[in-house]
Amino acid sequence: MAKITASVYTSHVPAIGAALDLGKTQEPYWQPLFKGYDFSKEWEKAQKPDVVFLVFNDHATAFSLDMIPTFAIGTAAEYQPADEGWGPRPVPRVHGHPELAAHIAQSVIQDDFDLTIVNRMDVDHGLTVPLSLMFGQPEQWPCKVIPFAVNVVQYPVPSGNRCFQLGKAIRKAIESFDEDLNVQIWGTGGMSHQLQGPRAGLINKDWDNQFLDRLIAEPAELAKVPHIEYVREAGSEGIELVMWLIARGAMGDVAGTGPAPKVAHRFFHVPASNTAVGHLILENQ
Ligand code: DHB
Ligand code: FE
Repeated sequence: MAKITASVYTSHVPAIGAALDLGKTQEPYWQPLFKGYDFSKEWEKAQKPDVVFLVFNDHATAFSLDMIPTFAIGTAAEYQPADEGWGPRPVPRVHGHPELAAHIAQSVIQDDFDLTIVNRMDVDHGLTVPLSLMFGQPEQWPCKVIPFAVNVVQYPVPSGNRCFQLGKAIRKAIESFDEDLNVQIWGTGGMSHQLQGPRAGLINKDWDNQFLDRLIAEPAELAKVPHIEYVREAGSEGIELVMWLIARGAMGDVAGTGPAPKVAHRFFHVPASNTAVGHLILENQ
């Protein structure tokens, strides 16, 4: 059977992708950030996942005000890096896992979560920057990726609790797939940042670190936090953090099938562009 062995959480910022692509990772501004991911890249080499179920948000790249799916699962065989205005990032194409994705869609929709099925989608920095941070700059990504896009751009966006419950349904779906696969689930985006308006530049280190503490120790309680707190404390784009609750909801302790996950790595750094970068790796025991 397929197994979720670990969950990974990381912020995404377009400038991180640009720093990598332009060879700036050793510059004084960027070096401390990338150092926080050295452990993660070594860890991934040892873990060798077959599939990453990657929860991310599209930034009006594949979707727009024309069409706003709350939850969209990628069932395609392949996804191209998107052109976000400066040309597509020079990173490999992303290979999907259509059979597992279709199985998850079947199971999760039967569990009463309405997913949009996406057979063609270009993937923006929300997906490619986390891949770069965790896998570096390979010729090919070392595993298959199922993109799972969440609307956190246009209100109404899903609640933390909805995301957490969905994570449980995704776990059930993955662990009922009849093939031995090592699957990781990633929750991406966040942490505190606001890109617009009078509060542009907002960062809240204390709130972010408390979010990390609670994500580890009391995710069900954390899932009750309403949107208004994310926006007030972590800025308008801080709402991206609800996506981390999907990955956390898919861990064994939430389902009652295992003990609390092991914290393999935790990192926090301010700033990357306008964003507080948080990163966590949790292993199912
Ligand atoms: C930045 C952060 C984001 O999450 C994003 O989607 C775009 C830009 C930034 O800090 O520059
Ligand atoms: Fe973003």
